[in-house]
This record gives sequence, structure tokens and C-alpha cells, in this order.
Amino acid sequence: MPKRPKVPPQRLVRTLDRVRAGLARLHRSSAPGNIALLELGIGAWTTAALYSAARLGIADELASGPARAAEVAARVGADPDGVYRLMRALASRGVFAQRTDGSFALTRIGAALRSDTEGSLRDAVLFIGHPIRWADWGHLEHSVRTGQTAFADLHGSSFFDYLAHDPEFAEVFNRAMTANSSLADEVALAQYDFTGFRLIADVGGGHGSVLATILRSAPSARGVLFDLPAVVANAAPTFTAAGVADRVTIRGGSFMESVPEGADAYVVKNIIHDWQDEDAVRILRNIRTAVADGGKLVLLEMVLPERADSFLGLMVDLEMLVAVGGRERTRAEYANLLQRSGFRLTRVLDTVTPLSIIEAEPA
Ligand SMILES: C[S@@+](CC[C@H](N)C(=O)[O-])C[C@H]1O[C@@H](n2cnc3c(N)ncnc32)[C@H](O)[C@@H]1O
Repeated sequence: MPKRPKVPPQRLVRTLDRVRAGLARLHRSSAPGNIALLELGIGAWTTAALYSAARLGIADELASGPARAAEVAARVGADPDGVYRLMRALASRGVFAQRTDGSFALTRIGAALRSDTEGSLRDAVLFIGHPIRWADWGHLEHSVRTGQTAFADLHGSSFFDYLAHDPEFAEVFNRAMTANSSLADEVALAQYDFTGFRLIADVGGGHGSVLATILRSAPSARGVLFDLPAVVANAAPTFTAAGVADRVTIRGGSFMESVPEGADAYVVKNIIHDWQDEDAVRILRNIRTAVADGGKLVLLEMVLPERADSFLGLMVDLEMLVAVGGRERTRAEYANLLQRSGFRLTRVLDTVTPLSIIEAEPA
């Protein structure tokens, strides 16, 4: 049995989450309301600063040790004063630390902005702060007024159709999905035992990092990766790097039409939240038609609390609103969607990540 990642107990992580949320509330309530509002309001500036640092590769320049902004600027070919001001501002947000000699060092947060570290989120930042995304969020009011995506209003097509015509932005998106996956997949997936399955289909599996992680944990299972043809065209190296390529079939197509037949586990991660109920039911029904007797459906999604708290998923829900027209859902909403699609929700496993595992079986 391959080694599973060391994960702190879920209860401990949830307790720490609650403590951090309490400290954040205390931090906000210790300032006058208007000051706390201003601090929230300039969140977009932090995004822009992180994006610029990620584009310039500043964190990589500090990987071998602290350096002065002027040295970093010379290495990345940017204005020394601009780089100094950027690094100083990001030091105020805890991304870098300014030392007494004026040089800057990476903090734990800054280390995650490097391109070559385990758990790096540089590619995620390059997506979040991309000018296209900036425009979407700048147009959030349109989505709130109309219920329609800002993206379609700005670009005249849905998010996923647009990706097919802008390969450069598609690459930014797919790399961000892989970066997010490397953050949470191994830990979240470790909570579910895939070893008993014969054939595992990953529907909307992107470049295959989720399926590769699962197949490493289930050595006797085979896998089928399914996503749009242009996306799966770039997936083979993921399986080769994970040493599981001989157990994987790669299939291109649309889950709106059908999904590969006969698997006994269908893994669907961060897909259902991309769609409104009618489309979500269509995808799930296609899986219901294809699933082998006795098979399981395994959704990985953020499950929203019934009442607002500090959960990250409540902001990701707005991302779904502006970009793709989907939504994050509560447990009851997932149970309802599954029931409309011919499935019965069997259990919801919380993980130490924001993702929960929602298991269902044919009703
Ligand atoms: C949010 S990403 C999730 C990717 C992956 N499951 C993960 O969690 O990293 C959504 C995925 O859905 C795929 N997708 C969108 N429309 C699709 C369709 N009609 N048929 C198949 N895949 C589609 C996209 O190409 C993308 O890989």
C-alpha cells in the first residue's frame, strides 16, 4: 500500500480554523468600522501586487537567500524603485520580511509564490490576478443585477467556450487548476479509500493530476480521464510523471453529451459548482447512465454552511457567479441535485481542506 500523506486530524484543523476566524473578527472589531472597511476594500490592491510579483518571479529570486530590491530588480529587468516599493508593500502583508540591513527575505507565505516549491500557488495567483479576471470581478455588479455571468457580458461567450479560442489564457487557467490541485488533492483524496475499485473515471479531470493521485493510492485500479479534447491533449505527461501511464486511458468529449461507460467509480471534482442546476443535472444524469452496477459517484466540492461564516467557499461562490455561471451549494442542495439525477447521497466526508467528499450511489 503506497504511503499516505501525513495529515493533522480533521477536528484539530477545524478548531484551528475557528480560532483563526475568531482572531480575524477580533482584528476587525478592534478597529473603527470605517477603518476595518478600508482594510477590506484594498484587498484588490494586494491581489495586484501579488500578481506583479508572481509575473516578475520575485519570490524565485529570493529562493537562495535574502537580497536587496535593487539586486532583484537587476535580475528580473525591472525598475529598482518600483521593485523596492512592491517588495516593501508585500512585506506589509507578510509575503516578504524586510531585514535590518534593508534586504528582503521570503516568509512562509512568500515561499508559496516560488515557482518550484511543493504546494506552490504561483500559478493560482497568475490566474486570480490575470487582467481578464480583473475585468470579470470589476463587473460583478452586472452579475448581481442580472444573475448572468460578467464573463459572457464582457467576452460574448461562456468561460469554457472562450478558453477554446484563447490558448494562452487556457494555459493560465489549466495551470492554476493543477496548482490548486497540488495544494489539496493528495490530502483530500487520502480521506477516501479508492483501493476497491476496478475502473475509476475522472469526469472533467483537466490535465489529470487528480486521477494520477488516486491511481497512485489504488495500485490495482485502472483509470479513464475525460475532459474536453483540447484539454486532455496535454494530459499524458502528468500520468507519465506519476508512473501510472500504463493504467490510464485518455478520452476527449463533452460531459453534456455523454461520459465514458462502465466505470465503478466516477470522480467529479470542482465540476458541479461550475454549472446551474439544469446543466448540473444533465452531467449527473449522463454519469448515472454510464455507471456500472454497484458503482459510486464521488463528488469533491466545497459544501456551504447553511448560515454565513468565515468559510472560503462563500467567496468562491461569487467567483462562480461572475465567471462561469455556476454556484457553490449546501449539503441539502447537493442531496436534491443528486436525487433529481437518479442518485442517492450516501455520505459527506469533511476533509482538512475546504473540499468535502460527497458520495452517492444509483438510487
Ligand atoms: C474547475 S475545472 C476542474 C478540473 C479538475 N476536475 C480539478 O479539480 O482540477 C473544470 C473542468 O471542466 C472541464 N469542462 C468544461 N466543460 C466541459 C465539458 N462540456 N465536457 C467535459 N469537460 C468540461 C474544463 O475543461 C475543466 O478542466
